[in-house]
Amino acid sequence: MSEIERAAEVLRTGGLVIFPTETVYGVGCDATNAEAVARLYAAKGRPQFNPLIAHVADLAAAEREARLHPTARALAERFWPGPLSIVATRRADSSVAELACAGLTTIALRVPWHPTARALIAAFGKPIAAPSANRSGRVSATTAAYAIEDLGSDVGAVLDAGTSPIGLESTIVSVGDKGAATLLRSGAITREQIETVTGPLATAGGSIEAPGMLQSHYAPRAHLRLDADTPRAGEAYLAFGAPAPADGLTLSASGDLVEAAANLYAHLRALDATGAPVIAVAPIPAHGIGEAIRDRLARAAAPR
Ligand code: TXA
Ligand code: MG
Repeated sequence: MSEIERAAEVLRTGGLVIFPTETVYGVGCDATNAEAVARLYAAKGRPQFNPLIAHVADLAAAEREARLHPTARALAERFWPGPLSIVATRRADSSVAELACAGLTTIALRVPWHPTARALIAAFGKPIAAPSANRSGRVSATTAAYAIEDLGSDVGAVLDAGTSPIGLESTIVSVGDKGAATLLRSGAITREQIETVTGPLATAGGSIEAPGMLQSHYAPRAHLRLDADTPRAGEAYLAFGAPAPADGLTLSASGDLVEAAANLYAHLRALDATGAPVIAVAPIPAHGIGEAIRDRLARAAAPR
């Protein structure tokens, strides 16, 4: 039996699987099995009001779970497979367990492009509910080793495909029944790219639309000091557009935002592991995927 087949078998029996996507590693379960979903929440240590993304094979599979407004369909056609999750009205006959949607009337759907994720979804044949493969409150895992460190004792299979190519969670856009589009979470598919399809996006204001976007969600143990041009004594430093300093690392020596996104979580974990009480982070430009990097840093720096 292939590794993929074995992992699909774990899903069929209600177990959990760590698997790679192009954004970050996910920990997945059978989205249609409420008991498996409950086991997943327990492993994550996740508040149950935080709904999960259902990973599906293609647009047709997504349309079996949600009612997609033409604007949502246009986004799907443009950016799937890829690092975009679409939130839309859940169909009454959706196969996804209500617990996975935390009782909301909406559902988040994603079609990843990562070949291992696609192979797993195809082998399993049903939607896979999968949050990022970290314990709740820690930064997302961008390697199988980090995922195992956080969740290893609770999973039945691990698919290791090396470091996540993008390194930040998917962009999330909600599209209402009347076509109104809101950016719930920034990501590698940038606001500018989404707006070429949707026109001007609203940005989620409060905690109502994106219940999972807890302020301090992506948090290392150390405190973060942002937009720091230079480190102070005793601080670890995360540089950008400059080589790694003696007491730190650089997100990208050349100032490449895509490279910076891919390095962000691994570098936060590494600097956190040094035991430094504060990680000072260089200013990151806000354009392109820089918006998503700044968003994750702001959450990691939020009081908790
Ligand atoms: O890149 C990603 O999206 C990764 C990979 C594994 O796919 N997954 C991921 O899942 O980041 P998670 O659970 O860590 O974050 C999903 C976010 C949460 O903030 C959750 O609240 C939000 O999506 N979400 C899920 N369903 C929603 C819904 N119906 N309405 C609003 N927000 C929703
Ligand atoms: Mg997460």
